[in-house]
Amino acid sequence: MKSLKDKDGLLCLLTDKVDHELLDAAPKLKAVSTFSVGFDHIDVPACTARSVAVTNTPGVLTESTADFTWALLMAAARRVVEGDAYMRGGKYKGWDPLMILGTDVAGKTLGVVGFGRIGQAVAKRATGFSMKILYYDTRRADPAHEAALGAKFVSMDELLAESDYVSLHTVLDASTRHLIDAKAFAKMKRSAYLINAARGPIVDEKALVKALKTNRIRGAALDVYEWEPKMAPGLASCRNAVLAPHLASATLETRTKMGQMSAQGLIDSLAGRRSPYRVA
Ligand code: DGY
Repeated sequence: MKSLKDKDGLLCLLTDKVDHELLDAAPKLKAVSTFSVGFDHIDVPACTARSVAVTNTPGVLTESTADFTWALLMAAARRVVEGDAYMRGGKYKGWDPLMILGTDVAGKTLGVVGFGRIGQAVAKRATGFSMKILYYDTRRADPAHEAALGAKFVSMDELLAESDYVSLHTVLDASTRHLIDAKAFAKMKRSAYLINAARGPIVDEKALVKALKTNRIRGAALDVYEWEPKMAPGLASCRNAVLAPHLASATLETRTKMGQMSAQGLIDSLAGRRSPYRVA
């Protein structure tokens, strides 16, 4: 914090909290640029009140995040991580018809919660698996986008009740914190999977551990955690969970572009230009 005292610009990560305390410690700050698309770690109204411009990296990680969401979904459904451990543990003694049985993906129902850029990119991939696509958002999407993806707008309850795979793509704010809680798990099919590559606190992680341990749902695949980098007690021992360390945008190509965009956003704001990546 001390080093911020005389700085005009801050390039931060999603792990840096930009709040009143930080802003008080940086009285000369004119611009904050985050190396992320999510900006729930930044108190944007507080920045605006102090005339501090905020920029992020929109759009650049849509495809890599959608790809990774699918990597999680497939890994959970087909028990790829368990299979890998089985091989490395020397347990494989020969083909067996009932060994490590997973769940079909093709032809099943995908429920996309949050139908923005990433949610739609995830849905687009599902068309290749002939899946039925349901989505929930606070606003209905453009009918042309719906039609192109064959996606149906439904209530959150309907999505939870009908989906075989529930994939989260909302922003994190007061309205989405613990959107998936014990009540939501109770509405899901026992055979369903939850995939979260958005933000950890959207899921009540203690309720998730309970749902996994009691087979309330069949499985989960997570890239983000409620108390990141920590996990809720008991999550690590859930064999029906695939756990990744916030890797969805972690490709060389995407991270390189994120670096360029976040630097450009900061340069533009400090030069008094309105950046196309401006959040506020
Ligand atoms: C973001 O940019 O918000 C992502 O969570 C990084 O993977």
